[in-house]
Amino acid sequence: MLPQQESAPPLNYAYGDVAAPEPPTPSYPALRYQQGLALQSTDLFAPTGIPGLDEILGGGFLRGKTYLVAGEAGCGKTIFSIQFLIHGALIGEPGLYIAIDEPTNQLLRGLRLFGWDLGDLISSRRLMFLDMRTHFSKIYLRDERKHIEPRYIIEQILAAARKINAKRLVIDPIAPLVYGGKEEDVLYAREFLREMVFAIEKTGELTTIMTSEIPTGSSKLSRFGVEEFLASGIIVLGIEEIYGNVERVMYIRKARWAPVKPSKYIFDIVSGRGIVIREPLSEYIKRVSRGSR
Ligand SMILES: Nc1ncnc2c1ncn2[C@@H]1O[C@H](COP(=O)(O)OP(=O)(O)OP(=O)(O)O)[C@@H](O)[C@H]1O
Ligand SMILES: [Mg+2]
Repeated sequence: MLPQQESAPPLNYAYGDVAAPEPPTPSYPALRYQQGLALQSTDLFAPTGIPGLDEILGGGFLRGKTYLVAGEAGCGKTIFSIQFLIHGALIGEPGLYIAIDEPTNQLLRGLRLFGWDLGDLISSRRLMFLDMRTHFSKIYLRDERKHIEPRYIIEQILAAARKINAKRLVIDPIAPLVYGGKEEDVLYAREFLREMVFAIEKTGELTTIMTSEIPTGSSKLSRFGVEEFLASGIIVLGIEEIYGNVERVMYIRKARWAPVKPSKYIFDIVSGRGIVIREPLSEYIKRVSRGSR
């Protein structure tokens, strides 16, 4: 258990009381039939740790695959990603977070205010934060490489992942990493992303979240228009006004091999717990349209 912050609200370990992962079925194959149809296995899915979401996804994210968490500013992409990493760290799957936008110390300070003190998980090497921007600027300063090769960035990420034997990876957000600090053309960016996702998935070790910022009011899911095709699943976080109430909405837009149709859910962001799914949007609408909240 992590030490509690004096100033922060108590670590409401949603994480402490999260159900332990099911032990693997001793018999081979370690698969069980659900409702006589769907095959499911805890070996196949990495639980996200987001209450409600794993049930919807039939277990979580496919192990070794890449997922896109997209959304407008402030919709919860970072909280979602960190929750995924904390949950992994607590069930024996170390996680690597590649910080792009915000310096790590600032992010960790913000997370402490939110009720998540990650000091212990970091010192026990169950979580690792890598500041990619600072990393790049040092290279630029030394003027070692005018142009940073995609291969080089990928190698840096994979080397860091190996250090802690990471099973989970978050790149938050993905687009600026591709630019490497300067404007590049879209074809180059797409090729880079393709190469990166292939290289990460080739390791077979890392279940990955890339986040992408959606400009307010845009119908695009990503900066380069290729991220959504490379991803095995897409989750869009947003805010919608429904019968005069402003609510957070999670749209599960694509989930390869999961028994789920595109669907929307109302969720909350709760200090110390993170993202908590409340109910399907359709149920909410039914209730609110009847006048009860
Ligand atoms: N203690 C809290 N309790 C409830 N909600 C909070 C709390 N702290 C932050 N939030 C909500 O979480 C949101 C920020 O979430 P997060 O940083 O994950 O968003 P993001 O999508 O990563 O944003 P950005 O695009 O700026 O990176 C805030 O806009 C706020 O609404
Ligand atoms: Mg963020």
